[in-house]
Amino acid sequence: MDARYEGEAFINRFGPWAAIAGGSDGIGRAFAEVLAERGLHLLLIARDESKLEGTADALRSTHGVEVRTASIDLTGADLEQGVAAALDGLDLGLFIYNAGSGRGMGPFLESDASHWLHQMDLSCRGPLLLSHQVGRTLCARGRGGIVIMSSLSSLCGSAYTTTYAASKAFDTILAEGLWQEFGPKGVDVVGCLAGSTDTETFREDTGGSPDAMDPRDVAVETLAFLGRGPTFVPGAANRAGAKAMWPVPRIPLIQALSRVNAENFGLPYHELEGEEFGILD
Ligand SMILES: NC(=O)c1ccc[n+]([C@@H]2O[C@H](COP(=O)([O-])OP(=O)(O)OC[C@H]3O[C@@H](n4cnc5c(N)ncnc54)[C@H](OP(=O)(O)O)[C@@H]3O)[C@@H](O)[C@H]2O)c1
Repeated sequence: MDARYEGEAFINRFGPWAAIAGGSDGIGRAFAEVLAERGLHLLLIARDESKLEGTADALRSTHGVEVRTASIDLTGADLEQGVAAALDGLDLGLFIYNAGSGRGMGPFLESDASHWLHQMDLSCRGPLLLSHQVGRTLCARGRGGIVIMSSLSSLCGSAYTTTYAASKAFDTILAEGLWQEFGPKGVDVVGCLAGSTDTETFREDTGGSPDAMDPRDVAVETLAFLGRGPTFVPGAANRAGAKAMWPVPRIPLIQALSRVNAENFGLPYHELEGEEFGILD
């Protein structure tokens, strides 16, 4: 897959600092490794300080980049203040909201509503607040990127993953809208609709799968797609599945609705070029 931004062009647009919410483990750690290889400095946000420090130490010693850590609960009431303090003084070019919880899925009525609301806080409230906060900075700067981690689950509701799938649908739709709003300001937004990915959390929750993707491939492919369209599905088999599930082209829909809303609200509309779901193969 040809990347839109490579080498210096990638660093100029998305460097010198990247922040990853949920960057200590799994797919978030894979994003951190790929970005450190490219020479970007990193702010890693997660809760467990020792895991954060372990990941940061490994990245510093292997890649020689600066790595800062911030122990922040992304569902906390003071989320924005904590992230603002952690970002203070950093020239941020790329923000990745990776954290999301598939933990404790099962029959809707067998968990308290507070359990499902907690999933919404992590997967919807967090990306909304931080896309708003970081989006202001990046749009004022006139270049940068935001990756919002969604899931193939976002394409359809399902028994036993009810709230997880619904929260990820929020992420997919949020990314589509922000792609259209931020793109003309020089900020590329992409929602990553990952399929099964071989992380410790995935193995613990499901017992694992031989078909699960390597987290590194998810990160490499998603970063290569950044700037090319609103939503990306890593993995050729996953892309084929997504195409079958959602055959109506999205970009003309996003643009038609954006045009109508721009007219209704008296706001500008900008036509953007984009590729569908990363379905290039
Ligand atoms: N793995 C898959 O098969 C798969 C498939 C589709 C989509 N996804 C999505 O991809 C993302 C990453 O999945 P993963 O399997 O890599 O997960 P993971 O290994 O559990 O990593 C999640 C990261 O988020 C952090 N985190 C979790 N809750 C947090 C909170 N409340 N506040 C701050 N940080 C928090 C974790 O660190 P701490 O626990 O220390 O806070 C960790 O750094 C999720 O959004 C998931 O829904 C995964």
